[in-house]
Amino acid sequence: MAKIATLKLPESECELPILEGSEGERAIDITKLRAQTGYVTLDNGYMNTGACTSNITFLDGEKGILRYRGIDIAELAEKSNFMEVAYLLLNGNVPNNKELKGFEQKINSFGQTPQALQKMIAAYPRNAHPMGVMSSLISSLSAFYPELLDQDLSVEKREQVSCLVLKQIQVLSAAFYRHSVGKEKIESNAQLDYASDFVHQMFGEVDETVARAIDVLLILHADHEQNCSTSTVRMVGSSKANLFATISAGISALWGPLHGGANQQVVEMLEQIQAAGGGYKKFLEEVKDKSSSTRLMGFGHRVYKNFDPRAKLIKKAADDVLTRLGVQDPLLDIAKGLEEEALKDEYFVSRKLYPNVDFYSGIIYRALGIPTNMFTVMFALGRMPGWIAQWKEMVEDPSMKICRPRQIYTGAQLTSFHRP
Ligand code: CMC
Repeated sequence: MAKIATLKLPESECELPILEGSEGERAIDITKLRAQTGYVTLDNGYMNTGACTSNITFLDGEKGILRYRGIDIAELAEKSNFMEVAYLLLNGNVPNNKELKGFEQKINSFGQTPQALQKMIAAYPRNAHPMGVMSSLISSLSAFYPELLDQDLSVEKREQVSCLVLKQIQVLSAAFYRHSVGKEKIESNAQLDYASDFVHQMFGEVDETVARAIDVLLILHADHEQNCSTSTVRMVGSSKANLFATISAGISALWGPLHGGANQQVVEMLEQIQAAGGGYKKFLEEVKDKSSSTRLMGFGHRVYKNFDPRAKLIKKAADDVLTRLGVQDPLLDIAKGLEEEALKDEYFVSRKLYPNVDFYSGIIYRALGIPTNMFTVMFALGRMPGWIAQWKEMVEDPSMKICRPRQIYTGAQLTSFHRP
């Protein structure tokens, strides 16, 4: 029998259905609350709000679990590759050989960037932040594919636009990087796997250690259920905006320092600590001082109140990659020292603040030769299949509704117009 919650209001009582997810997560379904009672709910920052049901990604923040379509990310990082994971997220199953080949071929068929877009890249200041550039370029793709803008795309066109965006984020980000360092664009090579082709387009040669490290990082970033950028993607997509505009909005949301932008901020923070003599204890005092706005970037998470499982894997990968590449980065030692100190400090312990995905990823990107301002682009590259899978799940749902939250108005009551 369906379980019911009873809500006691000053003037009435209301019965609300209780939903249970496949991993036991419970929710009170308030869909009919306003119609039945006149009340809405208020939840600053969506701390308690489930915005949708989804069968893509499962996350348990207390236990530090993250699974895509039921498969633990540690297993995917070890045994799989980014294209398989993208297929898994988008289609719900691990692809067989034929399905994977077909998927990769489709993605690689979109390796050419329209000439006019290449001219746009050349027109950007070399020091422009690549996240702003990526958001604009992905949105600009809409100008070249009018046949992919319909509000109700066929299944084939939905697949086409998904593969196009997945490929173009790779090609455009490498092309902008080449422009930013004053070098010629390198064409995509369809013979290479996704991560290797990215490395090839960035640097002209492919080091296997570098390509595999990038592949793993892309897998670990591929989806993270209803975070800020994914919710943005769902919000924008719910108006039936095209996928280019929708993803462009997701990229903008990811850019923020509290979200994906944190990976750039972490390395900048570590550099500042290094420049100040490496004394991270003094820095931690500043972080804990409530009169300062300094945060320990790469620490804390809305959902994880235990270790972020991605951070554990990335920390290990950082050690491995630096050793294999023979890189000695003093920032890694500072990061480890900071982590150790923070994890025994009452401030961080009592608030359940642990390293998140962004704490160690930047150190690997640095070792791989990726410039600091490209770190968040790397996050976007990884998150692309997740954003598209979440958009696809939403638009394929016949009960989809435009996202339109309510508010509690606290402004002036009706007054007449008087010019002062
Ligand atoms: N450094 C210092 N104090 C912190 C930090 C931090 N990194 N994170 C949280 N706190 C404190 C915060 O000041 C507050 O203390 P108090 O209760 O005394 O007011 C308490 O912990 C709760 O913090 P909150 O800001 O209410 O928590 P939230 O769930 O709203 O924010 C967060 C989550 C990720 C925005 C926050 O932890 C943060 O700003 N972290 C640093 C930025 C960062 O690393 N972001 C990447 C997140 S993971 C990847 C991604 O989403 O892209």
